[in-house]
Amino acid sequence: MIDRVFVPPVKIQGIKTGIVRLIAANMPHGSDMVWYEPFMGSGVAGLNLAPRRAVFSDINPHVIRLYNSIKEKKITSRTVREFLEYEGARLKTGDDEHYYFIRDRFNEKHDPLDFLFLNRSCFNGMIRFNRDYRFNVPYGHKPERFSKAYVTKIVNQVKHLESVLDGSDWEFACCPFEKTVAMAGENDFIYCDPPYIGRHVDYYDSWDEMQEKKLHDALTSSGAKFMVSTWDHSRFRKNDYVDTLWKGCFKVTKEHFYHVGAKEKNRNAVTEALLMNYDPGKIAENIAPGREDKVACSEELNR
Ligand SMILES: C[S@@+](CC[C@H](N)C(=O)[O-])C[C@H]1O[C@@H](n2cnc3c(N)ncnc32)[C@H](O)[C@@H]1O
Repeated sequence: MIDRVFVPPVKIQGIKTGIVRLIAANMPHGSDMVWYEPFMGSGVAGLNLAPRRAVFSDINPHVIRLYNSIKEKKITSRTVREFLEYEGARLKTGDDEHYYFIRDRFNEKHDPLDFLFLNRSCFNGMIRFNRDYRFNVPYGHKPERFSKAYVTKIVNQVKHLESVLDGSDWEFACCPFEKTVAMAGENDFIYCDPPYIGRHVDYYDSWDEMQEKKLHDALTSSGAKFMVSTWDHSRFRKNDYVDTLWKGCFKVTKEHFYHVGAKEKNRNAVTEALLMNYDPGKIAENIAPGREDKVACSEELNR
């Protein structure tokens, strides 16, 4: 079992920080196993769990560019500190005008440091692009956002990533999931966290039934062990794909509380599911299949 869950430098909708331990408890292990993560997002799952060899990918080029820049040492924890201190001071005086200046600059030049700045100062830490693939999230209205302590927190997240990357053979690629799934062999493990169906978030993050079927077919014909993160049910609805398309899979669930805003009445429970093509009871460290884990997690992305 892992002692501590490391938080990556990027925040993203649907970040799986809250279920890293559940994934750990149900994933297979093998000395020559390669970890494949075709929907990496922030990369929190692999960052905490991937073995020495891993392939991370995502269709969003900006996340991949940031991680590759850190891997190639074009961006270091030192340059991140310098950049955030400098731009943070300008945000403090320029407020929204400076935020929108950086947003325009990012949409023109796609600099990963600008992406990091926007990700940490935009409204609710969201990543969203319009149909022209331009980042369009408004300002979070916190001119004091990049306080000394907050910059240090981000710098430490980058430092941790640097240290993990130093001892690993990890690849980051920008591509559709099919390409990554096709690389996996029977000794490998594929962890998939696709966007949830019907929850259109942005132009890198749309998902429909056809995509879900394609993913199912690609995974089942890969020969690899796989685990898919999805939602199982809420108080109001049930995810029908779990019992139809994915019916051959083993399932473990965990209740997850989303806090939308500050009010108690906006606390919604969703039961998350991990679907696997192997019996986790035969390999799991300590959670039996089907057991429900109830843990409250905050959905506040902007920390
Ligand atoms: C729910 S998020 C993943 C979150 C991630 N597990 C985390 O904890 O941060 C889904 C990701 O899938 C990516 N994505 C959407 N469609 C894709 C596709 N067809 N191929 C590859 N990646 C895709 C999105 O850009 C997004 O980063």
